[in-house]
Amino acid sequence: MEEIIRFNNIKKSYGNKTIVEEFNLLIEKGEFLTIIGSSGSGKTTILKMINGLIKPESGNVFIKNKNIEEENIIDLRRNIGYAIQGSVLFPHMTVEENIAYVPNLLNKKDKEKTKSAVKKWMDIVGLEEDMLNRYPDELSGGQQQRVGIARSLAASPDILLMDEPFGAVDEITRGQLQEEILNIHNKTGITIIFVTHDISEAIKLGTKVLVMNEGKIEQYSEPKEVLKNPATDFVKALVSRERHFYNITDDNEQKSIY
Ligand SMILES: Nc1ncnc2c1ncn2[C@@H]1O[C@H](COP(=O)(O)OP(=O)(O)O)[C@@H](O)[C@H]1O
Ligand SMILES: [Mg+2]
Repeated sequence: MEEIIRFNNIKKSYGNKTIVEEFNLLIEKGEFLTIIGSSGSGKTTILKMINGLIKPESGNVFIKNKNIEEENIIDLRRNIGYAIQGSVLFPHMTVEENIAYVPNLLNKKDKEKTKSAVKKWMDIVGLEEDMLNRYPDELSGGQQQRVGIARSLAASPDILLMDEPFGAVDEITRGQLQEEILNIHNKTGITIIFVTHDISEAIKLGTKVLVMNEGKIEQYSEPKEVLKNPATDFVKALVSRERHFYNITDDNEQKSIY
């Protein structure tokens, strides 16, 4: 196993409100980690500590065994894609310009290389080439979300952070985007950290699931383990519908007579 991200005894508070404390987590390279938990439990806070958007007040975050506090933040972010809910596209730029934004910063001279990279990522996220010259307001919500994902991947990062990325799209589009992101993970081997408030999404996508409640880790295990052996009452309540759906009961639970 190869470690890629490690949180070491992290504390973060706002005013006198502690958000996370004694937070420790090790994420392995190539994992698709889904983070699920109640609203305000610290999911976004944890995610943003990985790309330095939020700094812990004590403790350290390590990426590939390097303390990110000692790293150049620009170089760090270049290797970390970031996709969030809703349209975060530049409204005055075309689809092509949006996706090419970071690659252009990285290799200004090689226009052809950037062009082919844009085509490749559009194809991977399931966008037609005829959308290249459209502006964000000429796309559906689902298409905008795809462009956002393509843009976050265009610099070929090692790590992709996603914060409720499919929260604002309809159910069908959501299903399609879930399939695309699973494909991307399989094809690229990228490490994905994916925050969601939808337990079925967390179970479906994750190779590992992190369940959080009030800044604390309730469970950190494979999805089937979360369903089979919920570690706490909080987790058990969270997964009760999923357990029902997959017809999972505790061994000591009375089986239905029907
Ligand atoms: N800049 C801020 N100032 C004060 N409180 C904040 C700030 N950002 C987040 N919080 C609080 O920290 C807690 C955790 O937030 P967050 O990590 O965004 O939760 P979530 O799990 O919903 O993503 C919440 O109670 C939120 O209100
Ligand atoms: Mg959040």
